[in-house]
Amino acid sequence: MKAHKMLLLTILCCTSALAQSVTTLEERNERIRERWNRSLVGDSSYTFNKEANNLLSQTAKSANPGKALCVAMGQGRNALYLARQGWDVTGFDLADKAVAFAVEQAKEQNVKLTTEIASFETFDYGTEQWDMITWLYGGCLQIDGISKKIKTALKPGGLFVFEFFHREAGIEMGRPNFGCEKNALREIFTKEGGFDVLLYEEKEGIADYGMDTNKLIYMVVTKL
Ligand SMILES: C[S@@+](CC[C@H](N)C(=O)[O-])C[C@H]1O[C@@H](n2cnc3c(N)ncnc32)[C@H](O)[C@@H]1O
Repeated sequence: MKAHKMLLLTILCCTSALAQSVTTLEERNERIRERWNRSLVGDSSYTFNKEANNLLSQTAKSANPGKALCVAMGQGRNALYLARQGWDVTGFDLADKAVAFAVEQAKEQNVKLTTEIASFETFDYGTEQWDMITWLYGGCLQIDGISKKIKTALKPGGLFVFEFFHREAGIEMGRPNFGCEKNALREIFTKEGGFDVLLYEEKEGIADYGMDTNKLIYMVVTKL
């Protein structure tokens, strides 16, 4: 085959592979949006803690209010809590109806909330912007380069607050790939470096989602 034909075939092949992967990401985002819009604001029987996360409220009590970022903010229970405590809060999520609910609540509660419809991958976390970043019930941080983005985005002394299901909880639920593996979260931050782990616990607690007793991972780190 002539060289230029080979080149054309390679370009066609790569372009179509790229188009496929873009579609796949869009489809994934659409599934996430649909699922969480339904659970968080569409289905009144879905069970979750509508009050602020306990680890977050305990952590916030011992910090001075500043700028906070709520990653995957959902319907805003944590973002609204921080805003009521005097924090300047930004939150993002793919679930547009859940975010719209949070915006409405902010108006009703007379607090300021900045929101964006974005994914973990597309949100611009910025540089030394945040005194606190929350990542609550948003998965196990399996996103390329995310620990570096978090490090860059936090101000020195800024806090990162995390809670999610442990892998053992996933196995108990019959979902063997769900939940974070033993020590995985701590390792992400110790490998990245530049953080001090203030709290890391793997223990039973009442999960904010489902409200059952499950093995959970609780973590608070600070940027050095
Ligand atoms: C279990 S809810 C937790 C919401 C909130 N953090 C809380 O604690 O109430 C998970 C949230 O993650 C969001 N989410 C899942 N995958 C996402 C992604 N790739 N980018 C942005 N948000 C995502 C969902 O839309 C949903 O609102």
